[in-house]
Amino acid sequence: MYKPYRQPTRIVVLGATSSIAMAFSRLLISPEAHFFLIARNPIKLDSVARDLLTRGAASVVVEATDLDDTAAHPALLESAADSLGQIDLALIAHGVLGDQTEAQASYAATEEILATNLLSPISLITWLANYFEARKDGTLAVISSVAGDRGRKSNYVYGASKGALNIFLDGVRNRIDRAGVQVLTIRPGFVATPMTAHIPQGPLFATPQKVAQGILKAIQNRKDITYVPGFWALIMAVIRNIPEGIFKNLDL
Ligand SMILES: NC(=O)c1ccc[n+]([C@@H]2O[C@H](COP(=O)([O-])OP(=O)(O)OC[C@H]3O[C@@H](n4cnc5c(N)ncnc54)[C@H](OP(=O)(O)O)[C@@H]3O)[C@@H](O)[C@H]2O)c1
Repeated sequence: MYKPYRQPTRIVVLGATSSIAMAFSRLLISPEAHFFLIARNPIKLDSVARDLLTRGAASVVVEATDLDDTAAHPALLESAADSLGQIDLALIAHGVLGDQTEAQASYAATEEILATNLLSPISLITWLANYFEARKDGTLAVISSVAGDRGRKSNYVYGASKGALNIFLDGVRNRIDRAGVQVLTIRPGFVATPMTAHIPQGPLFATPQKVAQGILKAIQNRKDITYVPGFWALIMAVIRNIPEGIFKNLDL
């Protein structure tokens, strides 16, 4: 549904201490901007809150919680909505890369990755989609990954968590876009953050700031799915179209 862009001023950030989320939050700072930040590390969370206030946000409320605790999500989001008065934009940013080798050997390790990257976002999206649908307004932005476009031997557990998240978001969008709610799936490529600190950085790596700008642009243009930086759309189109008979023998 077409709607003119209005700068969101009542903002909930889940996984607010993620490097991408921090860079994105900074882009929304204004004297009218009220933030409700949720993350699991209270010390990092306070430092993010102080940063936003120092740079000119109107108010910042923080809540430290482990987002794997899905039972706590409804009360958490209700308190965010009450505290802000209303939610214009929710960004879901938390996630773990996990250890592919460990996950291959142990279902328990696989389940931990799926709990954080898939089940936790699904629980949050369920509440937020109903909230935005009832208000007939709002933006639900969720950080997925290009890794969800095709399974590769080097990270298919992480990829599966993001791929399933993509499909869940497709369905939610198909349901509530017509109610006036933007559902944005964000698919970054490699980003230089603590999550990828162990990987040697090459020319395909983007900064969190660049990715944050891409996310904001996609919200302003009311996009459904965005690859950030944009060249990943082309790379992934090629990767998705390699015939399985060839793909299964590649070392990716
Ligand atoms: N970096 C990349 O190359 C890349 C590429 C594509 C997609 N992404 C996605 O981008 C998103 C943000 O990641 P990032 O790159 O900004 O990395 P990051 O700086 O390492 O952020 C990851 C965040 O997730 C939080 N988190 C993990 N498990 C959590 C839990 N159970 N409850 C609450 N918070 C939890 C971490 O909190 P703590 O600080 O407390 O650990 C951290 O703040 C993730 O969804 C990631 O999958 C990243």
